[in-house]
Amino acid sequence: MTSPQPAEPLLAPSLLAADFAHLADEAAAVASADWLHVDVMDAHFVPNLTIGLPVVQSLRRATDLPLDCHLMIDDPDRWAIGYAEAGARNVTFHVEAAADAVRTARSIRAAGSLVGLGVDRDTPLDPYLDLLPEFDTLLIMTIKAGFGGQTFIPKLLDKVRLARRHLQAGHLQLFVEVDGGIDEDTIVDAAQAGADVFVAGTAVYGADDPGKAVEALRAQARAAMP
Ligand code: DX5
Ligand code: ZN
Repeated sequence: MTSPQPAEPLLAPSLLAADFAHLADEAAAVASADWLHVDVMDAHFVPNLTIGLPVVQSLRRATDLPLDCHLMIDDPDRWAIGYAEAGARNVTFHVEAAADAVRTARSIRAAGSLVGLGVDRDTPLDPYLDLLPEFDTLLIMTIKAGFGGQTFIPKLLDKVRLARRHLQAGHLQLFVEVDGGIDEDTIVDAAQAGADVFVAGTAVYGADDPGKAVEALRAQARAAMP
């Protein structure tokens, strides 16, 4: 059986760790990235507040990088489609916040974007495996959603392993994205567990050269992916 994993890892720097006064420049600093990860937080689903649709619309005009919008918001059934219509490459909403995840997923896809299902730290994956054919991306938090700069939780890679086994058994094509605490010390384990999209905020924008940090992380992931 051929592996459903792509040959190449996708690196998605998170703008949460960038300078919000210079987002266009910060995007340009990671021009070799695959996706640009945009953390949308509403101070309800998570305690933190970041940016919303107007900023994403401006970003779309400011960079050619595909935007990977990670919605940590209540009521995604109402709001998520706007991000797809704004031209995001992928729109991920959280299963914990969705009243009707399948309906929301279908409306996002119909608006022309890939759609992702987000699973936070304390949420088991098993009950949602049957939903995965409705999605293009599965985002597994490797911290508690809400803030950058937290310490990676290795135990959460069990969900990545479960997802990868499930996808292989069902011949499903899906990106498996890890988010939180991904750096040069943790990306190898995440890649070996079966992830193929790697979000990194602090490890990229905290580096002297964010572009080089992306390249270094990509090389590590590529070497470690099964
Ligand atoms: C946190 C966000 C992450 C965050 C990761 O809820 O979803 O994308 O930016 O930041 P680091 O890489 O610093 O853990
Ligand atoms: Zn994120």
